[in-house]
Amino acid sequence: MSTLAVYPGSFDPLTNGHVDIISRGARLFDRIIVAILVNAEKSPLFSMEERVEIARDVFGQHRNVEIDTFAGLLVDYVERRKAQVIVRGLRAVSDFEFEFQMALMNQRLKPKIETVFMMPAEQYTYISSRLIKEVFTLGGRVHGLVPELVEQRLREKVREKVV
Ligand code: PNS
Repeated sequence: MSTLAVYPGSFDPLTNGHVDIISRGARLFDRIIVAILVNAEKSPLFSMEERVEIARDVFGQHRNVEIDTFAGLLVDYVERRKAQVIVRGLRAVSDFEFEFQMALMNQRLKPKIETVFMMPAEQYTYISSRLIKEVFTLGGRVHGLVPELVEQRLREKVREKVV
C-alpha cells in the first residue's frame, strides 16, 4: 500500500522552512499533498491564488508533490483524499504545545490518521511566515529564507504599497 501524506498550513507566504519539510516528506512518503488552508487569516498578505501559484512554481518538478487547497476540518479533508498521515514541522519547543493539542484533537476526531512531526534543517528553525512578513515590511533582508518567487512577490507588494 502506498502512503499518502498531507502537509497542511496557511503558507502566507511559503518559506524555505516549509520547502525543506515538503522535500523531506516527498522522500519519506509515496506522495505528499501541500494543503493550503482557505481563510486561515481574515486578511492574508498573499491571496489563495498567489499561494497556490508560488507552491506550484517551487514544486512543479516534483512528481510526487501535489498542491491543493482545503476548507473546514483538516481531518475531513485528509479522509476525503484517502491519506493516512498529517505532516507538521516542529521547529522549537515553543511549537510543541499547540502542535501537541492539534495532533491529539485530530487523533480524537479520526483515530486512524497519524500525525508525523518532522524537523527542518537547523538553519530554518527560527523562520516563520509571520517573521518574514514583519522583517520584509520593515526593510529587512529575507534573501535565502524564502523561495525567490516569494521575495519577488514581496517586493511587488511593497511597490504596490500593499504592505
Ligand atoms: O500554518 P498554520 O497556520 O500553522 O496551519 C494551521 C492549520 C491549517 C494546520 C490548522 O489551523 C488547521 O488544521 N485548520 C483547519 C481547521 C481544523 O481542522 N481545526 C482543528 C485543528 S485540531
